[in-house]
Amino acid sequence: MARRKLVYEGKAKILYEGPEPGTFVQYFKDDATAGNGAKKDVIEGKGVLNNRLSEFFMTGLQNIGIPTHFIRRLNMREQLIRQVEIIPLEIIVRNFAAGSMAKRLGMEEGAALPRPIVEFSLKDDKLGDPLVPEEYIIAFGWASQADMDDIVAMALRVNDFMSGVMHGVGIKLVDFKIEVGRIWDNDYMRLVVADEISPDSCRLWDIESGQKLDKDVFRQDLGSLSDAYTEVARRLGVLPSNVTHRPKPTLIN
Ligand code: TMP
Repeated sequence: MARRKLVYEGKAKILYEGPEPGTFVQYFKDDATAGNGAKKDVIEGKGVLNNRLSEFFMTGLQNIGIPTHFIRRLNMREQLIRQVEIIPLEIIVRNFAAGSMAKRLGMEEGAALPRPIVEFSLKDDKLGDPLVPEEYIIAFGWASQADMDDIVAMALRVNDFMSGVMHGVGIKLVDFKIEVGRIWDNDYMRLVVADEISPDSCRLWDIESGQKLDKDVFRQDLGSLSDAYTEVARRLGVLPSNVTHRPKPTLIN
């Protein structure tokens, strides 16, 4: 069989040329990195879980009319996606202070924000993905004012959907990152949610205990990352069949 053409390899995923024009195959690796690649490990099964979880979230978004690049899952580690022109921004929505915001502003982790806050980082590993104001984005032509209005509206809808879904399984959506891409249809352009949505790109805390169930477990050495992601997948009912934890048989009197 001919080898597939590799299009791009990132820290956690690989893109291959897809079977039809305008498609890619997105492969989820087990590699985990933090601090812009400073900390690295291989977490067995992470790619399988993120493939499933990203499918679950992207499909859910499509069901409420938010377009995404997702077409269908192909197998345990791969999904078929639309080719998009990625806008070079990380779009971050925050509901509670954490991570870089808590550090930058000296806020307590977990403090509720007055309203969801949307912020943007330039996707540039060499520069460490610096936070950029909308003024820069428009002035440098990374996106237009109309694009930004659409992106903010889309990010807030994604936040409402994700917060609701996670709340339903006892998890607080502290913050998350999405990427957005352009799809061209002749002269007509539309924006779609791209990349992935998974515990690699969200902060997820158990509502009751505050336990972290996202990549901070790896960043901060808090225990098993695969246990945390498995717990998220289990609560959402999207565990792949080969890692299903079957309940122990109970004695019936
Ligand atoms: P931050 O608090 O480190 O800025 O992260 C905010 C959110 O964005 C958090 O849910 C993690 C996610 N994120 C990524 O997915 N990729 C990244 O490169 C960074 C810096 C953050």
